[in-house]
Amino acid sequence: MKRMIPCFALTPKANSFWLALFLLLAAPAFAQKKVTIPITTEKNVLVLQVGEDKRVGIIYFGPKLKNASEYEQIPGMYRKGDDYSGVLNAAYTTAGSRNLVEPAIQVTHADGNTSLALEYVSHQEKKENDNVTLTSILLKDPAYDLNVTLYYKVYHQENVVEQWSAIRNNEKGAVTLHKYASANLYLSAPEYWLNHYHGDWAREMQPDEEQLTAGIKVLDSKLGTRANLYQPPTFMVSLGKPATEEEGNVLYGSLEWTGNFKFDLELDPLHNLRIIAGINPYASEYALAPAKEFSTPPFVYTFSDKGKGEASRNMHRWARKYKLLNGTGKRLTLLNNWEATYFDFNETKLTALIKDTKKLGVDMFLLDDGWFANKYPRNSDKAGLGDWQENVKKLPHGIGYLVKQAQKNDVKFGIWVEPEMVNPKSALYEQHPEWVIRQPTRPEHLYRNQLVLDLSNPQVQDFVFGVLDKIMTENPRVAFFKWDCNAVIYNAHSAYLSKQSHLYVDYVKGFYNVLERFRAKYPKLPMMLCSGGGGRVDYGALQYFTEFWLSDNTDPLERIFIQWEYSYFFPAIAHDNHVTDWGKQPLKFRTDVAMMGKLGFDIVVSKLGKEDLQFAQDAVKTYDSFSDVVWHGDLYRLVNPRQNDFAALMYVDAAQSKAIMFNYLVSNRYNAGSPSPVKLSGLDPNKKYKVKELNLYPGTRSALPADAVYSGNYLMNIGVNPLVNAQRTSVILELTETK
Ligand code: DGJ
Repeated sequence: MKRMIPCFALTPKANSFWLALFLLLAAPAFAQKKVTIPITTEKNVLVLQVGEDKRVGIIYFGPKLKNASEYEQIPGMYRKGDDYSGVLNAAYTTAGSRNLVEPAIQVTHADGNTSLALEYVSHQEKKENDNVTLTSILLKDPAYDLNVTLYYKVYHQENVVEQWSAIRNNEKGAVTLHKYASANLYLSAPEYWLNHYHGDWAREMQPDEEQLTAGIKVLDSKLGTRANLYQPPTFMVSLGKPATEEEGNVLYGSLEWTGNFKFDLELDPLHNLRIIAGINPYASEYALAPAKEFSTPPFVYTFSDKGKGEASRNMHRWARKYKLLNGTGKRLTLLNNWEATYFDFNETKLTALIKDTKKLGVDMFLLDDGWFANKYPRNSDKAGLGDWQENVKKLPHGIGYLVKQAQKNDVKFGIWVEPEMVNPKSALYEQHPEWVIRQPTRPEHLYRNQLVLDLSNPQVQDFVFGVLDKIMTENPRVAFFKWDCNAVIYNAHSAYLSKQSHLYVDYVKGFYNVLERFRAKYPKLPMMLCSGGGGRVDYGALQYFTEFWLSDNTDPLERIFIQWEYSYFFPAIAHDNHVTDWGKQPLKFRTDVAMMGKLGFDIVVSKLGKEDLQFAQDAVKTYDSFSDVVWHGDLYRLVNPRQNDFAALMYVDAAQSKAIMFNYLVSNRYNAGSPSPVKLSGLDPNKKYKVKELNLYPGTRSALPADAVYSGNYLMNIGVNPLVNAQRTSVILELTETK
């Protein structure tokens, strides 16, 4: 059998003397022919190279070198073993030809053939602006009319890359896509440490860190809607050793897809790490008609050789500037009635809550679940979903009346919807059973007493769009939507689709269609992505939403950990944190914790004692005074609550003139607290900062010296002790530049 010449140098056949000699002699001739494609951010680079056999491989991923011509020499340094296939480092691994490992793409051609090979045709680089460049690489199967274009969108300053593929069928008949990943990466390091997340309702974002061993570690979801209930589409991999906040090589990755996802992390026979990220192929074979293209969702990633802190800041800056809706703008503080009333309210109660909204000093009243349905009134979660008419008993004068009450009280009005769902006990279900996702031959299985509407059906898309559009058309002053999504997809079957294996994908496409339409008409209206807690959090959805609901678990102690983990990937401006009655902590602690994102309340204001009310009113004003720094500043996680008695983190504004530091006690053991100063980060060493404690409870005084001024140099080398202890369980410090 003819042995192939290795095309990619991370996989050399170093044990062959003859081959080495051949390579040495042939090297100059090869060097001239090689096409090298560096995908470069300000600090990092992914280097692709076209081999002699025209296959595109990854020859390097990591910090950028000063001299780009040296990338070609990197592979020659490795002696990791033989790659018999010669494609272990493929930029987009095909199935059915010579590949032996997990593919990024697997197809059946129109003629039934199951092999695929992709060869380089051309590439181009398009500068979208000074910071954003899109590189595309066109690949073609030499035996079939099937093209794949690999896209790499580089956000230079943020050190972020979005990577996806587009598969085009130029064959005469339909091609079946069995697997169609967005991205395929190849990393080389002595050790790989995967940090990933699992959870469930009220237990979102539980981290696990493990060293990857030979074989494939799969992270995935098969839940359809609220796909992230058990696992978010988000992970990090440290190279060499587990990265810390300030040190280590770390890759953050996240799939921009609001549905089933799959990450394969495969440690290959050369001890290199192959990462394949994309839509989950589970039950999702996709028939691609002739002359059609299937575009996969972007996989976004960033790399830092300075630890997790820098990687987070990269992601946050990118998200605020390029992805999150209105990421550079403002957010509305609010009072929500969910935990204050649940389903038990009427116009009088709500009018009082609207007055309380004003009294509290927040921007908006948010009316939650329970305001709709008449035939089967929405008085519990058992009925009414799908019937989006105001319940005449609870709201005899409609939403309009409440909007007016809000206007009278000089606050805004927001409203809850869950338009993708239906209770079997609803008029909608009776009228349109064919709109419901369910197996015709099997008993229905409900999640929170409800089923999912079939968004692959354009009529259902019209309906869902219509729910929001009607509210807006009738009440143009509605200022906010909370878009909830409480059920997973059981019994996946669509009465509309002829190919059932399209359902999971077409559902998400339908969801995006609705959101595109909504945003075309209401481009800026703030909207919360909510999913019975944090069951749906990804950058595919967040381009249409201003914020997301992290978890129904608002116990502040739990919340410190949940918010902490989300903060690795999603910026604070997108974190909706509400002060509720969960947990045993005092109001100050609950409020201080909610302040490290976007502040909201879900409490009965009229039941607050005099001092609590005073505290809450002052807290809202205090929050307004620094929210800009939390929303748009850089985050530095300082003291990890998983390793210490307390948590500390801070946000610094772009001018390094103002910073806010949050500190929370997370242990009630004897003497738990902050024994030493906490070294700060992100300040200007040459500036001086006044340190002041904020948000004190009425009648208490700060334990810190008044008007203390320190240099940035001092604060970052020695630090400041927030004096957290059992009497001071949460402490917020403000640092202001002073001359
Ligand atoms: C789940 C959400 O997470 C809650 O905040 C609340 O809106 C309920 N749904 C309402 O049913």
